[in-house]
Amino acid sequence: MAKIISIINQKGGVGKSTIAFNLSVGLYKEGKKILLIDLDSQCSITQTSKADTQKPTIYEVLVGETKISDAIQSMQEAKIISGSSSLANIDVVLSGTGKEYRLKENLASIKDNYDFIIIDTPPSLSIASINALTASKYMLVPALADAYSLAGVGQLYQTFKAVKTYCNLDLEIIGIVLNRVTPQTILTRDMTAMAKDLASQIGTKVLDSVLREYSAIKEAQALRTNIFDYAPKHNATKDYKNFIKEFNQIIGE
Ligand SMILES: Nc1ncnc2c1ncn2[C@@H]1O[C@H](COP(=O)(O)OP(=O)(O)O)[C@@H](O)[C@H]1O
Ligand SMILES: [Mg+2]
Repeated sequence: MAKIISIINQKGGVGKSTIAFNLSVGLYKEGKKILLIDLDSQCSITQTSKADTQKPTIYEVLVGETKISDAIQSMQEAKIISGSSSLANIDVVLSGTGKEYRLKENLASIKDNYDFIIIDTPPSLSIASINALTASKYMLVPALADAYSLAGVGQLYQTFKAVKTYCNLDLEIIGIVLNRVTPQTILTRDMTAMAKDLASQIGTKVLDSVLREYSAIKEAQALRTNIFDYAPKHNATKDYKNFIKEFNQIIGE
C-alpha cells in the first residue's frame, strides 16, 4: 500500500512543486512505483512533466466527474494526475458534508498500485490542501531560511492540528526541509537555528539535508526536465540524493 505524502506550505515560492517533482523522479529512479498528483491551479508540475492537458485532471476527479483511474497519465518519470486552473474555484465548488474526504476516497481504489503517492499542494490552505492532508499519512514542509517563511509554518501547524483532530488521526509531520539555502552566511546560520527551534516547538525536526540555491534547478525546469537527468554530477543533484536518502530513512523503505 502506498505511502501518501503531501508537500505543503501555504506560502508560494518555497519549492513545493520543485521538491514534489524531483523527489518523485528520484524515488522512481530507485525503482519505486510513484504517482504524482498536481493539486495546484498553477499546474507547475503538470507543465514540467509535459502532461497531456486534454486528459481529465484531479479537478474532475474531486468533483466526481471522472474516475480516478481515467485521470492517471504515464510520463517519462512515473505516473501523474495533472492539475487544472479550475482548482482555483474548488472552495466554491466542493461543499457539503464529506468535502474533505474526496481525494482520500478516490485514492482508496488505486493506492495498492504504488509505493508512494506524492501530492503537490497550492499556496493556500484551501479545501484542496485539506483534501491532501486528509488523504496523507505524512506531510513534508519545504521552507526558506528566512523569517517570513518560517512564520508561515506556525499557521500551517494550526491547520495540521485541525486536520489531525477532525479528519485524519494518522497524519504525521515528516519535517521541515530548508530549500534555496545559501550556506556560509550568518543569516542562514541564524535562520537555521530559528527553524530548529520552531520545529521542536511543533514536535518535528529540520531535516539534516538541505537543498542549496543553484540555478541548475531553474535551468532543468526551463527545459521541462528533472535535476538528475539535467545535471547528474551537479551539487544540486547531490543535495537531492542526500535529501531522498534521509527521506527514506525517516519514513522507512
Ligand atoms: N534549490 C533551488 N535553487 C534555485 N532555485 C530553486 C530551488 N528550488 C526551487 N527553486 C525555484 O524557486 C521558485 C519557486 O519554486 P516552486 O517549486 O515553484 O515553489 P512553490 O511550489 O512552493 O510555489 C521556482 O522558480 C524554482 O525554480
Ligand atoms: Mg507550486
